[in-house]
Amino acid sequence: MKRLIQMLMLLAPLSLVSQTSNVVLPQDAGPDKIDVSAYPAPQQAAYKLFSTKCSKCHTIARPINTMMKRDEWERYVKRMMHKPNSGIGDAQGKQIFEFLVLDQTERKDKNPKAFFPALSDEEIDKLKKK
Ligand code: HEC
Repeated sequence: MKRLIQMLMLLAPLSLVSQTSNVVLPQDAGPDKIDVSAYPAPQQAAYKLFSTKCSKCHTIARPINTMMKRDEWERYVKRMMHKPNSGIGDAQGKQIFEFLVLDQTERKDKNPKAFFPALSDEEIDKLKKK
């Protein structure tokens, strides 16, 4: 019995490591909606696409509350597109990227204190290991 308990205690951390997509980032707890009523029509349409496509693996609050520069968003949208089963095509990725850049300048850059800087890959890895 004692050995069984010891074995289970050894195995427990392994099951946590395998749940990588369940990592919680600080920005996940923020608001999960954007008021896009003042945005141009194409960006309002892109917001809908963004809301469906970018909420598949994590809460939509994650991108809504993360600040990135234009080139970082470009890299990041590509990275998300290339994850297995992302379901995001090239044209859709481009539309979402353009929405994120406009939203960055219109909403986030004007009030940076309300948002979270993007975490580095190392910081995310650390959270995954917790
Ligand atoms: C196939 C699953 C999946 C989809 C779809 C997805 N993401 Fe992610 N996203 C992740 C995972 C997993 C992470 C954690 C970091 C990692 O492992 O790359 C993450 C992390 C993030 C982060 C945190 C970045 C940081 O450094 O703090 C942002 C922002 C983000 N995603 C935005 C998006 C956007 C925008 C979209 C839509 C274009 C999207 N995600 C679609 C899986 C996904």
